[in-house]
Amino acid sequence: MTDAGASPSVRRLSAWDAAELQTLVDDYGSPLYVLDLERVRQNYRRLAAAFPEADILYAVKANALGAVLSALREEGAGLECASAGEVQRALAAGASGSEVHYTAVNPPARDLDWIVDTWADHPELTVTAGSEDTIDRLADRGYDGRLCLRVNPGIGAGHHEKVQTGAAAKFGVPAERAVDVLEDAADRGFDVVGIHSHVGSGVSNDQLDAHREFVARMGDLAREVSEEVGDLEFVDVGGGFGVPYHEDEAPLDLESVAEATREALGEVDARLAIEPGRYFVADAGVLLTDVNTVKAARDTTVVGVDAGMTTLIRPAMYDAYHPIRNLTGDLDADEREIVPQTVAGPICESGDVFCADRELPATERGDTLAIGNAGAYGYEMANQYNSRPRPASVVCEDGDIRLARRRETVDYVTRPEREAHNGSETDRKTDDHPAVSDTDNQRVR
Ligand SMILES: Cc1ncc(COP(=O)(O)O)c(C=O)c1O
Repeated sequence: MTDAGASPSVRRLSAWDAAELQTLVDDYGSPLYVLDLERVRQNYRRLAAAFPEADILYAVKANALGAVLSALREEGAGLECASAGEVQRALAAGASGSEVHYTAVNPPARDLDWIVDTWADHPELTVTAGSEDTIDRLADRGYDGRLCLRVNPGIGAGHHEKVQTGAAAKFGVPAERAVDVLEDAADRGFDVVGIHSHVGSGVSNDQLDAHREFVARMGDLAREVSEEVGDLEFVDVGGGFGVPYHEDEAPLDLESVAEATREALGEVDARLAIEPGRYFVADAGVLLTDVNTVKAARDTTVVGVDAGMTTLIRPAMYDAYHPIRNLTGDLDADEREIVPQTVAGPICESGDVFCADRELPATERGDTLAIGNAGAYGYEMANQYNSRPRPASVVCEDGDIRLARRRETVDYVTRPEREAHNGSETDRKTDDHPAVSDTDNQRVR
């Protein structure tokens, strides 16, 4: 799918082989996610070369496909998980406890129950707590293992206000309280190993100043914690490394980001940790979708496709730009007229559009479109709204192509409902994780 030897800092949609993509959609159907594992590895290696001194974790939430986790583990990445489910997937991909960080954000009781049970078999697991309350709930369950504190340094950045986490009240303990909280945790027997924060997602070259300020605050805090509380193993400054979604956008200048990070952090007696997600997988993935309708609207031409906001929600949720290419037009080498087009999905929502009035080669019913940079937060955020089954995913590596996740069916979507009708009383609380304890409720009562 790509030139395995070269590792350009950006891989544009135009670099994908149109004939190969067309074959995939012919073989596996539409819509279809395609992920190139060679590109995932290239992205990892470039980042690791820029940050040779850092511990690198992969933020699983960007794309939790087992093949991705295995490939990145092989490259040397640890796995940062946002839920018990992601930890389960990390362990299933062969990760040891020491490779896994679980970042608890308002964690449901069933997550904490499962994590603490799992910790018994994986005592090297690290739990990152973002509130004193979470630390209490861990203690109530008997957890006194490796603890990292997520702090809120009061500065955020990122491609959209909804992903600027560093100053959002929801995330982390206010940095000015961190020393007290960690002192208390250490007194209670927790193994305090790190501090953590994540400034936001999709940080670009022009937000380097915010990144610098954010890292500087983390460096200051690390020095204070080392002095007041004790040695730290690591300072985790999160992920957020942006990728160029627009065709004419420059890629992130990794060397400048790495240099700014080092400078801003200053001397700390702890390892630097980073946990990017998007950077590894975004340009390794495309979404293929067939055109089913072409309609002249009042001011534009509407191109109806079979993928929608349920398949790739980023445009609807963040007004995110994704490049779009007409594979059929490219393969036919047609001289198609360039006209403004609105590419829209089949979901009954006005927000279900991938682009509005974009200048694209005239589309015909039956064409296949490729939507670029779809490897991060694409399938992971897909859902079944309008009773739409989620699409299939294929992965490619070394010329090998395989189905990594089959297409869902309507039968699959409706199964939990049928099972509820057929189920017994004991099914009421059933979920993937072992029995839900009442630990939290006992404390509150
Ligand atoms: C705690 C944490 N770490 C890492 C990431 C990864 O961010 P990105 O994919 O932008 O690198 C996120 C994204 O939401 C996050 O919340």
